[in-house]
Amino acid sequence: MPAVKMDGSALAKKTRAELAVETQRMKEEGIEPHLAVILVGDDPASTVYVRNKEKACIQTGVRSTVIRLGNECDQATLEETVSRLNAAPDVHGILVQLPLPKHLNTARVLSLIDPKKDVDGFHAVNCGLLLSGREGFVPCTPRGVMEILAEYGIDPRGKHAVVVGRSNIVGKPMALLLLGADATVTICHSRTVDLPSVTRSADILIAAVGRRGFITKDMVKPGAVVIDVGINRKEEGGVCGDVEPDVADVAGYMTPVPGGVGPMTIAMLLKNTLDAARRYGA
Ligand code: GUN
Repeated sequence: MPAVKMDGSALAKKTRAELAVETQRMKEEGIEPHLAVILVGDDPASTVYVRNKEKACIQTGVRSTVIRLGNECDQATLEETVSRLNAAPDVHGILVQLPLPKHLNTARVLSLIDPKKDVDGFHAVNCGLLLSGREGFVPCTPRGVMEILAEYGIDPRGKHAVVVGRSNIVGKPMALLLLGADATVTICHSRTVDLPSVTRSADILIAAVGRRGFITKDMVKPGAVVIDVGINRKEEGGVCGDVEPDVADVAGYMTPVPGGVGPMTIAMLLKNTLDAARRYGA
């Protein structure tokens, strides 16, 4: 029997509807949740992502402001923009779309964002809060994965969760969230010896590598839950994940690409923005 398709698009739609109700309630209480997005340059993928974020804000009634800076924008201008948003009492969430053009220092910009407005959860303060199991902002993609697991009744407790990929944005926070949910967690990366033998022992397998076809059928335990975080552009057009489609023949559950984790990432950005407005909003 093929794997159950974990429908992230449907769950994101349901989540957005719930967030729209919550946004309306907050507005009636005098708080208008407001997300500010900074986009530097004209990277095509980033432009599409930012447009999708704007669309999702409109659908839920969250105010959004997109600040577009040219490719030639210098570090000082970008930092001034962040500082201005930090100081604006009507802005609750700040997101700097990544990647930035190469001449800009990403780490410095991210460290300048007020942790109380860091809805991406990339600031070292929020990373530290997640590490120590305290309340902060959790990066959107791993938060979305946890919601997908919950929606399909998959409790990580006692399960072996294997995360392939060790990025600050997905792999590391994903591992911490699974650990917090009482999974036994293994993080794999490009230097892992005999990766297939590790992935084959996973009850929950998270692929966050960024390479088409990286996870093949022989690397998956029958019945496993397979979450595909990859978004790779196909030469022939369209996008695909890190997991070969025929993994669905052996997995118990699997997220599609597109329509799996991606839509939930944006829904979690809205959720983090509402959390910011509720916790710190004027
Ligand atoms: N670029 C690709 N994914 C993301 C994300 O989640 N946040 C930001 N800021 N930039 C991204």
